[in-house]
Amino acid sequence: MNFSEEFLQALSSARHVAVLTGAGISAESGVATFRDQDGLWQKFNPAELASMEGFMSNPALVWEWYQHRRGIIGGVEPNEGHKALAAMEQQFEKFTLITQNVDRLHQRAGSSAALELHGNLVENYCMDCRAVYHFADEKAELRENPRCRDCSGLVRPAVVWFGEMLPVETLRAAQIAAQDCQVFLSIGTSAEVMPAAGLPMIARENFAYVVEINPQPTVISGRVHSVIREPAGIALPRLLRELDQFRKSRV
Ligand code: APR
Repeated sequence: MNFSEEFLQALSSARHVAVLTGAGISAESGVATFRDQDGLWQKFNPAELASMEGFMSNPALVWEWYQHRRGIIGGVEPNEGHKALAAMEQQFEKFTLITQNVDRLHQRAGSSAALELHGNLVENYCMDCRAVYHFADEKAELRENPRCRDCSGLVRPAVVWFGEMLPVETLRAAQIAAQDCQVFLSIGTSAEVMPAAGLPMIARENFAYVVEINPQPTVISGRVHSVIREPAGIALPRLLRELDQFRKSRV
């Protein structure tokens, strides 16, 4: 499947390219998505594990679940899709990477910046005194029992839970990027969770060329300019190559 001339033209002439990624871009690294057949929400109850109510009713269970996820993330590597996005930064005057993922695989792949709409799995903070704890260098006792060393308050992962506000500055920056960009790529997301899912349409309403890269259809497939039905780890490296060829053919 080749990319359309219209897409390559829009991309090669874009001053600002914005990208929104979801769990799908980490699938080829071996990290489960949320809503696919083998996704996390098929096995675990999000209300119980990814919510303040769940944490307050059973902090040890929620903490253990995040330990489990950190263990998985620690054992995987960024894939060719992450790496292609890191390389894509150099291709445009302005490149904004927005992610719903908390695994930090974009940063490990070399992306210099990522707007983390849903927080991250690496950092943790005390709910009382806000002391920050970095999981990687935690002593054993904290790993088992999430209590603050200074005030004994509950320590929670720095992940945005269902029903919680997204980091205001981060969301604002993402919305501004969606308004300003000429091309918006929605990659590996079911586009079901607002406000992240609204970003592709903000881009569309601001005359950007919007593309979905996802092996499956989503709720926004019918409202984007171009759909690439391929895994991100295949489509993105190929997009980099075809963009380079397209630019050379126009010189
Ligand atoms: N390449 C691209 N897309 C893929 C790949 C792949 N290799 N594999 C799966 N996908 C697609 C699936 O088809 C699906 O549309 O990735 C999407 C993953 O969707 P979700 O599991 O819903 O994940 P996401 O969109 O990131 O969820 C958004 O919901 O539960 C919350 O906070 C959580 O950030 C998450 C948010």
